[in-house]
Amino acid sequence: MPIGDSTEDIKDAVRKELEGTEYAVSSLTPLSGGTANFIYLAKLHRPLSGGVSKVVLKHGEAYVALHPDFKLEMVRCNIEEEGLRLLAKFPPVISSPYVVGTPKLYHFNPQTSTQIQEYLPNAINLKDYALKNFQGPTVAATESQCLQLGQSLGRWLREFHIWSDQPDNQSLRNLFVKNTAMRNIKKAINYDQLLGRLGMFPAILQEHEETLQQIVAMATAELGDESKLSVIHGDFWTGNILIPNTALGSSQIVPVRVIDWEMAQVGVRAEDLGQVIAELWQLKLYKNIDATLWIIQGFVSGYGKVDSDFMFRVLIHVGAHLLCIGSTTPGWGTPEEGQEIAKAGRDVLLNAWKKDAGAFQGHDLQQLVG
Ligand SMILES: Nc1ncnc2c1ncn2[C@@H]1O[C@H](COP(=O)(O)OP(=O)(O)O)[C@@H](O)[C@H]1O
Ligand SMILES: [Mg+2]
Repeated sequence: MPIGDSTEDIKDAVRKELEGTEYAVSSLTPLSGGTANFIYLAKLHRPLSGGVSKVVLKHGEAYVALHPDFKLEMVRCNIEEEGLRLLAKFPPVISSPYVVGTPKLYHFNPQTSTQIQEYLPNAINLKDYALKNFQGPTVAATESQCLQLGQSLGRWLREFHIWSDQPDNQSLRNLFVKNTAMRNIKKAINYDQLLGRLGMFPAILQEHEETLQQIVAMATAELGDESKLSVIHGDFWTGNILIPNTALGSSQIVPVRVIDWEMAQVGVRAEDLGQVIAELWQLKLYKNIDATLWIIQGFVSGYGKVDSDFMFRVLIHVGAHLLCIGSTTPGWGTPEEGQEIAKAGRDVLLNAWKKDAGAFQGHDLQQLVG
């Protein structure tokens, strides 16, 4: 079925595609928060056998949904589909009240890259949750609740990393190893782009050009030997973590879902931690949200013991993420604020590169080197 470029054409096409199947939809409502794909909350004409009547419809095209000029290979959709099927064997990680897992995949059409996934009712991603609930003063219980939430996410990530190393689960590695397209994009965005930032922020970066080149060379060399790479989520950030949009502490079981497995690959584990820490820290830097520091604190302790080289590599990624992504993300702040973020990122990057633990004394991220 030929699919046109406009979002209305896409909606019509996926609706038609599902007509006559058990996933025939009665309405499609766009869900926000994504970038690469077309995502809808779909109401089904008839509930599925378990009584489910709302699902998520995720449809991929050979370009980024929000930036159609940015071409993307379709293999990412198959990686997510097969990945979700394999991850169904990875049990949810329970740190009461949080039950952290991956969404159930109901259906996938490989011809059209249309997927039907479990819908987490009333869900919101963690970035939006923090913006909505943690700006301004918070109640006293928020600190311990955020520590607990962070801890549950850190535990989940560690368990996922450990699970994927087990000999029985090598099929996940064998699948993610194929995602070289996304591995190249991830490295280009997070590291190669550091050199492009020199032109954007010369006042704060020019004198560090040689070091930035060394950091890019390090990141390139790391990916050179596949046998040293490990299974990672690859896009582990607050936009890809879903939680119910209710007050923390208001229920005894809080389902959390780690979504969006299109960038799953073999890579550098520290980058899974660095990406989410950077995104949480940005909420403090741009919006002065303290709660995200508590989530970081819980997250790091939940991930558990690692050596100092690993943590410095996490911090290198935090710095690179702020410089390459956080400082220029539309909607976050003014260009001046962007430069401040770039500066904060630069300092973390350079100090972590030098493995200078002392430089992190009194820093928001001190705990990582402590
Ligand atoms: N299973 C789900 N339940 C509820 N909302 C979802 C679900 N999956 C995705 N969403 C919403 O859609 C957004 C984008 O989904 P995602 O899979 O990350 O797409 P993209 O690949 O475009 O980033 C999420 O940030 C979330 O707001
Ligand atoms: Mg996403």
